[in-house]
Amino acid sequence: MKKILEIKNIKKSFIVKDRFGLKEIKTEALKDVSFHVYQGENFGIVGESGSGKTTLAKIILYLVKPDKGKIFFNDEEVTGFSQKKMLEYRKSTSIIFQNPYKSLNPRFTVEKTISESISEKNKTIRNKIVEKLLEQVGLDTSYQHRFPHQLSGGERQRIAIARAIAPQPSLIIADEPTANLDASIQGQIINLLMDIKTELGITYIFISHDMKLINYFCDRVAILYKGEIVEIGTCEQIVNTPSHPYTKILLNPDIKIDIKENINESELIEIEPEHFVRKNSLPEIENIIK
Ligand SMILES: Nc1ncnc2c1ncn2[C@@H]1O[C@H](COP(=O)(O)OP(=O)(O)O)[C@@H](O)[C@H]1O
Ligand SMILES: [Mg+2]
Repeated sequence: MKKILEIKNIKKSFIVKDRFGLKEIKTEALKDVSFHVYQGENFGIVGESGSGKTTLAKIILYLVKPDKGKIFFNDEEVTGFSQKKMLEYRKSTSIIFQNPYKSLNPRFTVEKTISESISEKNKTIRNKIVEKLLEQVGLDTSYQHRFPHQLSGGERQRIAIARAIAPQPSLIIADEPTANLDASIQGQIINLLMDIKTELGITYIFISHDMKLINYFCDRVAILYKGEIVEIGTCEQIVNTPSHPYTKILLNPDIKIDIKENINESELIEIEPEHFVRKNSLPEIENIIK
């Protein structure tokens, strides 16, 4: 299978001042993250809040630079792209953010928001494209003239999706796209993402803290815990034979694990084809169990 994306040994730390502005505190948001995504698949990243999911998404799109590591897109190294190549990369990739209340400019009409990511200069043609995009996300053309405050959460997320697909990207990262929506709307947005995939042949990286949603939407999944992938595999493997203690806890919060049975190893170990597990972050796991 062809890899559309490969990321190798990504590290990223942030340094922030403590609340008195005196001491500097270093957060290792991503410790040493490597994985690949096959063309056409839905790849899930699951992890609790603060595990580094959004940082990873921004690094993949090169909106944030990693401290270390490499990113390959269709076998080309993104980290070494010229300005021109980077522009092309920006068109081939898109992101849908978690919060449609924050991600849309409140002063822009829907038409302007979507137009911004269309390169076509001719206004009439551009308008036609906007209308087509609105139709693709299930909204009629009258929405063009509305402002974000005149839209519901679900409608806003549809606009964010229209904006994301406007440059005809081959890879879209959806960063918790339904986390801020009512449960009844969540399903509609997931179905819309699936329909668009069939229509446009998009590869998705789908980020969520909800393994049930990932299992419904994705082919493979990486489990991110405190900036490290602790397990990666097909959703079937992860759901049926979870191997890392954290994965087991994620799937079943009531579970108790005797951590003494485990040995410490820092590498991801392949336990069956496509299924990798890390066995090094156990002291942290112990804290969760207590
Ligand atoms: N711009 C930033 N400055 C300082 N710390 C950050 C920044 N972005 C993220 N972090 C920290 O990095 C860690 C991972 O954050 P994030 O990637 O947003 O996690 P998630 O999306 O899984 O909730 C958190 O500890 C967060 O506070
Ligand atoms: Mg996040």
